[in-house]
Amino acid sequence: MGAKADPEKDVITIDGKQIDTSQDRIYILLNKPPGYTSTRFDRFAEHTVMELVDEVQGYLFPVGRLDKDASGALLLTNDGELANMLTHPSYEVEKTYEATVTGRISREALDRLSQGVELDDGPTAPAKVRLLSYSPEDNTSKVEITIHEGRKRQVKRMFQAVGHRVVKLVRTRFGTLDIKGLREGEHRYLTKKEVAKLKKLALARSGKEDEKSDGSN
Ligand code: URA
Repeated sequence: MGAKADPEKDVITIDGKQIDTSQDRIYILLNKPPGYTSTRFDRFAEHTVMELVDEVQGYLFPVGRLDKDASGALLLTNDGELANMLTHPSYEVEKTYEATVTGRISREALDRLSQGVELDDGPTAPAKVRLLSYSPEDNTSKVEITIHEGRKRQVKRMFQAVGHRVVKLVRTRFGTLDIKGLREGEHRYLTKKEVAKLKKLALARSGKEDEKSDGSN
């Protein structure tokens, strides 16, 4: 009685049953251009990603972080529960990046990245790493890297740990979502099927799916 709940953030249960507050959920995939800060509001930011979706009604916020100078897949939603599940440190979803780095990267450096490297906030988990190309004109290597952690400037710090500076960073995939077909600055609504897949992934990673299937939830 008299308790207040935010349907966008709180999970509301009555007699242990979760109430569906999802009617007005909004899920948007944005191809963030460099130069935009991934935040709802920051008075020091020149531009925020909210400017790129300003015609959308609803209390949207960006899910997880993508550096100001990075570009690519950024999910915006008003579904706090899904956002929490997707960014929870112990079961973050996979994110794939195309990193352009200085110099010709060696097999050994790629192996080290894939095994996990030591950063000042601890070792990174193993990553999937693939050399895409080397450009002799500007002496840079393009590397695809997939991680499931979301530490601050993680990809940049991982490459730094093996002696390379990231000069361009594009997130090509976020969980089940792919940036293909969206130009920088463009956004689109997720389809119902995409939302369902993303939720399934988030539940699977958080282990809730097992609980559901064995009837304990
Ligand atoms: N790793 C980084 O270094 N920056 C990002 O924006 C995301 C991952």
